[in-house]
Amino acid sequence: MKVEKLLATASAARMRAYAPYSKNLVGAALLTEEGAIITGANIENASYGLTVCAERNAIMTAVHTGHRNFKSIAVFADCSPPPTPCGACRQVLWELAGNLEVIMGNLNKETKIMSLLDLVPEPYGVNKWIDNPIDEKSLHNEEMWRVSVLFHPVGYVSNEYYEPDMIPKNYKELLSQVVIAPEMEDGLYRLEEEEKINIISYLHRAKGYTLKDKAKGRGDEVYGVFACRAPLRPNSIAQTTVELVDRKKNILTVRGADLVNGTPVLDLKTVLPGR
Ligand code: THU
Repeated sequence: MKVEKLLATASAARMRAYAPYSKNLVGAALLTEEGAIITGANIENASYGLTVCAERNAIMTAVHTGHRNFKSIAVFADCSPPPTPCGACRQVLWELAGNLEVIMGNLNKETKIMSLLDLVPEPYGVNKWIDNPIDEKSLHNEEMWRVSVLFHPVGYVSNEYYEPDMIPKNYKELLSQVVIAPEMEDGLYRLEEEEKINIISYLHRAKGYTLKDKAKGRGDEVYGVFACRAPLRPNSIAQTTVELVDRKKNILTVRGADLVNGTPVLDLKTVLPGR
């Protein structure tokens, strides 16, 4: 993973900060040994001291969603020199993530890289994973299915439809690109043998859903959300069958995607013959 990529992700994460008091938007992107990226941003509070920094939000999310092995963290803000993690974050990162590579960047493209132990030379406490006193039975708790899951997009859609209402009526005939993360290019091996593929994506611009509504394209009759293909769904997940026109390395050209520019792609799957 390139330093610039992780910084770019931290920079994007920053846009989801809640910082009305300091107006200092900070983003963090944590890279795991497995190659997943988990993001965080600073979330402030009117009682200022209750604010939680971007770095701690990222590591807490990562741990809760099952990640244990970390390589680097990128921290990004609009300040010069680039932001260094505060003392509290250094301490928390040390225990949960060990001697991370810490990449700091700002909007002026200044960057600085240090190890966590450079930043906190004599850290307090341990940095080895301590398992919880949970017995096997509670690990198989039947409510585990409700625990949040976190997906790491494998790519994104690129076209000129910047808003959902900019998708033209004749989208079936129009071309989009699907850009897959370069490090995942091997996963596309022999995809070009397919005429059609399914794109599984996250409709990041969709807001809200109804469980029962008039279904477009079905005579406006009322159907349950799980009984139709309505775009406003509880998890905003879409499955879109498109024609595969071309593949150049990690970039696919597809025809017929009704997905806005920047839609995160979660997976690609072939279409079963006869479908
Ligand atoms: N902040 C971070 O998110 N990370 C740091 O390492 C230092 C500070 C946030 C906390 C607060 O919302 C704002 O920056 C204060 O400037």
